[in-house]
Amino acid sequence: MHPLAETDLPPHIVRKEMNRSVPMIGRLNHVAIAVPDIEAAAAQYRDALGANVGAPQDEPDHGVTVIFIELPNTKIELLYPLGDDSPINGFLEKNPSGGIHHVCYEVDDIIAARDQMVASGLRVLGNGEPKIGAHGKPVIFLHPKDMNGTLTELEQV
Ligand code: CO
Repeated sequence: MHPLAETDLPPHIVRKEMNRSVPMIGRLNHVAIAVPDIEAAAAQYRDALGANVGAPQDEPDHGVTVIFIELPNTKIELLYPLGDDSPINGFLEKNPSGGIHHVCYEVDDIIAARDQMVASGLRVLGNGEPKIGAHGKPVIFLHPKDMNGTLTELEQV
């Protein structure tokens, strides 16, 4: 009998059981783009690209104003600084016309994902513990220098 036929576990769990090096990331949840003019960026996505653009939301805990753009398969988050010590002020100083700030992948279990990634040599920003992100879900960020120059967010969904 084929060993997989003996289990009712979903395929991604079976793969984890069979091979612990299989990545645990899931869908691309969003791509975040820092912009110098959030109204202009929102108007561009709405009027030139025909996208479904939400209203601006202030996220004082994160030092950003966010506009969510819903695409059929993922989201774009436009980020604009909120406050003088916004974490994206420095990014916009280096990238005055804006740029991709981070990507976010979904994970089932953020603690298990973090522990595997730390064991693989990736650094987690901050104190290493998940924080509640802009969607009200636990998130961590991986150091961009360990991730091909890309700030990488993991969100438990
Ligand atoms: Co994000």
